[in-house]
Amino acid sequence: MLRGSWLLLPGLWLLGGVSCLLGAAGGYRRKVTLQAVPGSNSSSANLLHVRAVGRNDTLHYVWSSIGAPTVLLLYTRSESSALRVNWTKLLSASPAGAIWIEPPGSVVYSTAVVFTKVFEYNGANASALSKGQEEPFYPPYDLAGFSWQSVNRTVNQTALTARFQGVDPGRAFGNGTISFQVTAYEQGGRDGPLPRLLHTANSSKVEFIMDKVAPHGNRSRFMLEVVTVEEKGGRKRLQSVRSIDDEYTPTIFEMAQLVSESRNNSIGPSFFQWKTTAYGSREASRENAIRCRYRPLQTANRTLPGPSIAHAYFGEDLGRSHHIAAINISFGGEDGEVYAEKGYLSWSALLGFGTPPKDAFSPLVMAIVAVALGTPVVLLLAGGLVVLFARRKRHSQYEPIN
Ligand SMILES: *[C@@H]1O[C@H](CO)[C@@H](O)[C@H](O)[C@H]1NC(C)=O
Ligand SMILES: *[C@@H]1O[C@H](CO)[C@@H](O)[C@H](O)[C@H]1NC(C)=O
Ligand SMILES: *[C@@H]1O[C@H](CO)[C@@H](O)[C@H](O)[C@H]1NC(C)=O
Ligand SMILES: *[C@@H]1O[C@H](CO)[C@@H](O)[C@H](O)[C@H]1NC(C)=O
Ligand SMILES: *[C@@H]1O[C@H](CO)[C@@H](O)[C@H](O)[C@H]1NC(C)=O
Ligand SMILES: *[C@@H]1O[C@H](CO)[C@@H](O)[C@H](O)[C@H]1NC(C)=O
Ligand SMILES: *[C@@H]1O[C@H](CO)[C@@H](O)[C@H](O)[C@H]1NC(C)=O
Ligand SMILES: *[C@@H]1O[C@H](CO)[C@@H](O)[C@H](O)[C@H]1NC(C)=O
Ligand SMILES: *[C@@H]1O[C@H](CO)[C@@H](O)[C@H](O)[C@H]1NC(C)=O
Ligand SMILES: *[C@@H]1O[C@H](CO)[C@@H](O)[C@H](O)[C@H]1NC(C)=O
Ligand SMILES: *[C@@H]1O[C@H](CO)[C@@H](O)[C@H](O)[C@H]1NC(C)=O
Ligand SMILES: *[C@@H]1O[C@H](CO)[C@@H](O)[C@H](O)[C@H]1NC(C)=O
Repeated sequence: MLRGSWLLLPGLWLLGGVSCLLGAAGGYRRKVTLQAVPGSNSSSANLLHVRAVGRNDTLHYVWSSIGAPTVLLLYTRSESSALRVNWTKLLSASPAGAIWIEPPGSVVYSTAVVFTKVFEYNGANASALSKGQEEPFYPPYDLAGFSWQSVNRTVNQTALTARFQGVDPGRAFGNGTISFQVTAYEQGGRDGPLPRLLHTANSSKVEFIMDKVAPHGNRSRFMLEVVTVEEKGGRKRLQSVRSIDDEYTPTIFEMAQLVSESRNNSIGPSFFQWKTTAYGSREASRENAIRCRYRPLQTANRTLPGPSIAHAYFGEDLGRSHHIAAINISFGGEDGEVYAEKGYLSWSALLGFGTPPKDAFSPLVMAIVAVALGTPVVLLLAGGLVVLFARRKRHSQYEPIN
């Protein structure tokens, strides 16, 4: 009996450690539904609602391509809070108040991310690129002016995914499309495909995809402008998280994130997080990785030109009533012409509520570190023993002479 429990204890510790590691990935669970919001007469008036119900709370993600592609993140302290839409108002010239949550008092945190423009620039001048001067620019693409296919046809309830796919009505880039592929999660885990982002039950992923967009020049690079809306008093901060471990995303050592600093520390924050890489093929691999850079976060006197569902939820006078920040994220550095070869670019980002997920060291790297740190210690101990042993021996050799 006694001997058995002596063996059991370390076993339990081991089990505890393993389940702790697994728990960190699984953990909190939400009941998630993803559906196109019915009621619009126009098939291109897309509104996608992700409802993630937790314990005594609900996270609402509302994605739309009405105006600039936008996502609203609304956190409510209620399991039964519901999204309401007045379509007539939403599709009118003054959409303020067309989207709300019932009961209104249940919303304790709200934020929005808007994808406003795609810029194209000439990457021929490598020395300028390395200094972050992405010029000269071709005419920008205003995503608010795109025409979007019906998102309803792309909703997959099992995989919890949907896709907004748009074309430039001016056909400035031929038959190419720009898409925003949305994925919702019921619980924590890690994506299978690169960049293998770590997610929680409180987050959703968006993948920005450019497919067969005809570039203006043969050294063209692209850049995406992302605008965030935060409650007054709160603000977004840009952070860079570096690691020596690239086990999950080979050759990429940096994670960038916009984290909100809420006026009320007991709520939030929210985050928008990405690895500094894009991929030039449907089958992402380190060979088709495209370098991704970002510019400083712009916060001074920003406004958000409409229309978008951010205006429908927060009101028309966004610039005055809310804190707006914007950032440019560019794809493709001085290296290679990956986009030109394949005509494909995919970049993933995670949007969520709570603290941003952080990669722990992978088991492989931990083992390497353990060996690297352990070896000198073992050598030191071994060396000490040898010296001790040798001294004893010497003593035993010389003492008799005395
Ligand atoms: C989406 O499609 C389904 C079936 O294909 C249909 O029943 C539903 O009404 C559609 N919803 C919207 C919002 O168009
Ligand atoms: C949910 O709310 C109920 C009633 O307010 C409370 O009794 C319960 O402890 C809460 N559960 C959690 C997990 O917070
Ligand atoms: C949709 O069409 C129906 C009938 O065609 C009309 O009564 C309704 O007002 C329209 N709704 C909107 C939001 O345009
Ligand atoms: C929707 O908005 C329109 C235009 O602002 C308004 O006339 C109508 O009463 C609203 N409908 C509802 C159900 O609130
Ligand atoms: C490249 O950019 C640098 C500035 O970074 C500029 O001095 C140089 O003239 C540019 N070269 C060409 C060929 O445009
Ligand atoms: C939805 O996703 C699941 C899992 O990825 C897949 O097996 C299924 O074929 C998809 N359904 C449709 C209609 O695409
Ligand atoms: C666009 O597609 C049409 C029909 O699919 C094709 O005839 C045309 O050549 C394509 N244009 C370009 C620029 O690829
Ligand atoms: C880029 O395009 C220009 C003009 O069309 C052409 O002269 C040049 O040879 C092209 N360069 C490459 C590397 O394809
Ligand atoms: C912060 O949030 C908590 C919980 O919702 C609330 O009780 C408190 O009054 C809030 N504080 C401020 C300063 O808004
Ligand atoms: C922002 O606006 C204020 C007042 O309108 C002005 O004084 C200030 O110079 C502006 N700042 C920037 C960076 O434009
Ligand atoms: C992004 O870059 C474009 C082109 O230089 C510029 O017009 C725009 O203001 C930039 N936006 C941000 C947020 O820096
Ligand atoms: C997700 O949200 C719930 C409710 O606010 C919280 O208890 C949980 O810790 C969050 N999970 C993460 C990983 O932030």
